[in-house]
Order: sequence, then structure tokens, then C-alpha cells
Amino acid sequence: MKNILILNGPNLNMLGQREREIYGTETLDDIQAQCMEQAKSLGFSIDFRQSNHEGELVSWIQESLGTVDGLIINAAAYTHTSVAIHDALKLLSVPIIEVHISDPKTREAFRHHSYIEPLAATVIAGQGAKGYKTALEKLYGLLD
Ligand code: DQA
Repeated sequence: MKNILILNGPNLNMLGQREREIYGTETLDDIQAQCMEQAKSLGFSIDFRQSNHEGELVSWIQESLGTVDGLIINAAAYTHTSVAIHDALKLLSVPIIEVHISDPKTREAFRHHSYIEPLAATVIAGQGAKGYKTALEKLYGLLD
């Protein structure tokens, strides 16, 4: 059984209510349920978390050291700002997949740069909530 940590950054707890024309109508609970379902068929054990606080995300990344086999992260707005999350991710030697529901590269210029991307095996963006399932499949391939 592989242990996978899925981290979600600020405002993703508001999915279903926030900018539905961009992020769709599914809630983070819906996405978590889909990931749990997918995990069963892939033989993954999933720890799915969300925080609005940069330091909490940093601490969770630090705590995952040596205990997880792969990390999926949608750092939300911190993607574009957080050197602290970038530095924490550098601690890990397991595959990291960056996920975004929308495609930040096709949106405002301030979303075009990602501090996660240089450390990610793959970036999955613009697939909506389905991107999380794609990320799990990708991780499965990488960990096989
Ligand atoms: C997001 C894209 C980010 O630019 C934005 O700040 C988010 C969500 C996405 O999943 O599309 O909060 O990460």
C-alpha cells in the first residue's frame, strides 16, 4: 500500500461556491470522495488535507518526510507566491505532482509563474476536478 498525501491550499475549501465559471460546481468534499474511490483501485492510502495557512502547509510537507510515497499538491494562490512551500518541497525525494483545476497559464499574468513547477514531475492543469484523478493515475505510473 503506497501512502499518498494530497495537499490543497487557500480558498479551495470554498469550491462549489467560488467562481463556478472557472472552478466548476464540485466541492472539495466531492473531490476528496473521488480521490478515495480512485485510491481503492490503485492500492493507495490517501491523506487529503486543505489549509488556508501557508505555514500549516509547510509543516505538513515537513512532517510527510519519510512517511509518504508521493505528494499531490494544489497550492492554489501560494503556487505563485510561496518560496517557503518551494523550499519545503525540496526536502522530499518522492514524486510531486502539481494540480490546478483551472489552467493558470491562460489566466492573469500573475498566475503564470509557479514556485512548485520546477520541483514537480508533472503539472496537471485545466482538467477541472478530474485533474486530481489524472494526478493519481500519473503517480501510479511513476511509482510502479
Ligand atoms: C488554482 C489556480 C490558482 O491560480 C488560484 O489561486 C487558485 C486555484 C486552480 O486550482 O486552478 O486558488 O490553483
